[in-house]
Amino acid sequence: MDLETFSSGSGRLEPRAALRTDAPSLDLNGTWRFRLSPTANVPEDFAEPDYDDSRWDDLPVPSHWVLHGHGAPAYTNVVYPIPVDPPRVPDENPTGDYRRAFDLPEGWTGGRLRFEGAESFARVWLNGHELGFSTGSRLPVEYDAGPYLRPGRNVLAVRVHQWSAATYLEDQDMWWLPGIFRDVTLTRSAADVFVRASYAADGRGTLSFDGPGTLSVPELGVENLEPGTEITVGVRPWTAETPYLYDAVVTCPGEAVRLRVGFRTISIEDGVLLANGRPLLLKGVNRHEFHPEHGRAVPYETMREDVLLMKRHNVNAVRTSHYPPHPDFLDLCDELGLWVIDECDLETHGFGGFGWRGNPTDDPRYEDALLDRMRRMVERDKNHPSVIMWSLGNEAGVGRNLAVMADWARERDPSRPLHYEGDWSCAHTDVYSRMYASHAEVEAIGRREEDPLDDPELDARRRQLPFLQCEYAHAMGNGPGGLAEYQELFERYPRLAGGFIWEWIDHGLAHPEHGYAYGGDYGEPVHDGNFVIDGLVFPDRTPSPGLIDLKKVFEPVRFEFGDGVVRVVNGHGFTDLSHLRFVATVQVEGETVAEHRLDVPAAGGECKLPDFPARPGGERWLTVRAELAADEPWAPAGHEVAWGQALLTLHDPAPNELLTSFTRAATKPADGAGVGLRYGGGAGARDELIAGDSAFDAATGRLVRLFGTDVEGPRLDLWRAPTDNDRADGLAEKWHRLGLHRLTHRVDEITAGEELVVRTRVAPAATNLGMLATYRWTFDGGLRLVLDIEPEGAWRDPVARIGVTMTLPGSAVDRVTWFGPGPGEAYPDTGMSARVGRWSATVEELQTPYVRPQENGHRADVRWAELGGIRVSGEPMFGLTARRWSAAELAAARHLPDLVAGDRLHLHLDLAHQGIGTATCGPRPLPAYDLLARRTTLRLRFDRA
Ligand code: GAL
Repeated sequence: MDLETFSSGSGRLEPRAALRTDAPSLDLNGTWRFRLSPTANVPEDFAEPDYDDSRWDDLPVPSHWVLHGHGAPAYTNVVYPIPVDPPRVPDENPTGDYRRAFDLPEGWTGGRLRFEGAESFARVWLNGHELGFSTGSRLPVEYDAGPYLRPGRNVLAVRVHQWSAATYLEDQDMWWLPGIFRDVTLTRSAADVFVRASYAADGRGTLSFDGPGTLSVPELGVENLEPGTEITVGVRPWTAETPYLYDAVVTCPGEAVRLRVGFRTISIEDGVLLANGRPLLLKGVNRHEFHPEHGRAVPYETMREDVLLMKRHNVNAVRTSHYPPHPDFLDLCDELGLWVIDECDLETHGFGGFGWRGNPTDDPRYEDALLDRMRRMVERDKNHPSVIMWSLGNEAGVGRNLAVMADWARERDPSRPLHYEGDWSCAHTDVYSRMYASHAEVEAIGRREEDPLDDPELDARRRQLPFLQCEYAHAMGNGPGGLAEYQELFERYPRLAGGFIWEWIDHGLAHPEHGYAYGGDYGEPVHDGNFVIDGLVFPDRTPSPGLIDLKKVFEPVRFEFGDGVVRVVNGHGFTDLSHLRFVATVQVEGETVAEHRLDVPAAGGECKLPDFPARPGGERWLTVRAELAADEPWAPAGHEVAWGQALLTLHDPAPNELLTSFTRAATKPADGAGVGLRYGGGAGARDELIAGDSAFDAATGRLVRLFGTDVEGPRLDLWRAPTDNDRADGLAEKWHRLGLHRLTHRVDEITAGEELVVRTRVAPAATNLGMLATYRWTFDGGLRLVLDIEPEGAWRDPVARIGVTMTLPGSAVDRVTWFGPGPGEAYPDTGMSARVGRWSATVEELQTPYVRPQENGHRADVRWAELGGIRVSGEPMFGLTARRWSAAELAAARHLPDLVAGDRLHLHLDLAHQGIGTATCGPRPLPAYDLLARRTTLRLRFDRA
């Protein structure tokens, strides 16, 4: 077989819509016989019905053979895993032979064999007759089985080659996972139907269809509508917020096709993207199909879980990066309500490295294949109201074949705008789309002040197009930072139609040793490491902090607090607030003291707050929550959609309270606690400075005992285990070169008396930069630390953190309770979802399980925390991190199982952290989040809990 053909297939039937019909169909999923060969050069006798496959293995269909012990997965982002020499492919070409026998039901005649997806070049035989071949891995193909079916037993044989000329069109950033990975059916359905349903803003919709038979929509009183006839009807519109669907039946010869019709119109006016005449703001995510055990053979329940999770996190849109998803996913989007950009199965990114020379997108020999892919997507998915744009593909450069795809799609379906990011001139698109543009550039585009194109005509046209970021905020590892600032821009400028976070899920494959595997873990000679771990949910679909923050940033309701009032702003595009109920809660230092329902007008607006009792005892926070008033198909009643918080009363210490309490205590010690220091002998030959049951090493001035617990005292720390974003930003490397991870601590002076003053200079070897760190300890039954930090020398780059690190016996600490924002982690430009309250978690629960271990788990702005019988208070706040391993161990780990609990608890008490940003793709932290070395003071208290 010529695997190097430019043809996209042979023997195939015309593409048609994915439809639910009452035509009989046979499910051919299940256990097939399977054999893997290392090359394509294998005899074809296996396709004969009576071939003896008893020595073959079993393999489930759908699946990827590499996830079932045959060969191994491989991950590359941009580069091809084969030499780039189109249309040639290597001799080593994993080839999977499949066989399945099935019995035809009595009286069955005719039918089509339908494959929803096979990666990547599949030849099909029925009872020894070759039906044809197809490429286009994530697109359906049908063959006419009729002439070769026979009563009783039939044998279907499929040969799937991993590499072919079509491989050059499928260079998406993901695992290479060959196999028949979507459903296989024998169906007697033959109908193709194209329903066109639009909505005018006045409650009226138009309806027509192409296809055989007649269309009925009982709920609308529409009966036996003829093809090609357009009618106008009073309807409820479909939107992602109100996914109203009408059951429709197309009665065709031999079958009744069931559809769910949604009425909606997508248009563009004056550079603004509109749905049903109203501005459409896309709060989106990019979704690859992924499951940690099944790869891209995603079970239905998992698809549903994705949609539910998205809806519950205020996501309203999906880009099906970078290929059409399983058709069921789009049904779920119709039903539960998500706006979808459906993307063609096309990416040729690997040519970018050679200045796009030889790019198939511009190669006439690939024209038919590219057009074929576009046609098969549009034809399959044309009836989905959720699909609002067609995307020509991703990162496929520019070229003549794009025009061919675009022209055909416009003609076939003028109702949907075209999207493609790879051509910034927008010559073939209806929206201006970019990826990872900085905040500043997005703002310039919002103002229509972007840099002009060379071609004035194209420039003028582009300036009239809505803008979206088809990818932004790269959710790799800890992060992304900067979400709130993007959202603020999207909401400010009408030209900005929002965007899609990169990406939904970490593609970590379940692995016996590593927990979750990423690139390189299967010994791939060429790979891109953990760049495939960049999702908002972990591989098991647990939301990461990034998704929890995104939920906050995407909230469709905002609260603005004033004096005795809260203004509730409705940010929905298409609904009022009547589906929500509003609850106001007051907490004093995290204890609830009052709770009230608020009467919020359906349109939103100002709402008077009840009088809340004033209570002494700490910070008094008001939280207003918007929850679902009744069950929705995607979440139960009570599900929180949005919240806002306001500080009612600051815990306002009397002036100099801290100082006076020290003075007071100094003259009147608490029962025997001891104030001031005395010398004594400690463990071994150590001299100690003792304050009650706490003690310092007399030689180093370092705390060694805290209320009887042995500790290794707080020491200045400037480093963290780099995040993926720190690495991409170049900071990790700078920190390493500078030696922030190997600070030396020199004691210059210790003065002990009523207080203990330890003057130190903290610096890495081989540099003249340093920090003068002066620890000033005072004692009043508790311990108070004032740490003055003063940089010496020219510190140019941001440091990772400014704080102290200490250790305690691990066994002393199980749970941490704190008052401050929580429950999740927060860094300067993340943690928008953290709300002030009293929280409690085990040390294990404080860790965020990033698949590639890195800095995580920092709780910001903590007022106080209790752990192991110790209470640490900030004056006024500190950042808290507690782990059972050191930052160095965290940095050295490559996978989660590498992190092994030691016998110490590592406690980081920070004044500040460097921002997170999204430099793995996109901008580094905004300047305001850079932590520059500066003169500063950290103030902490230690008391018995
Ligand atoms: C984009 C690309 C995505 C992914 C992302 C980085 O350039 O479209 O597929 O590679 O970068 O994770």
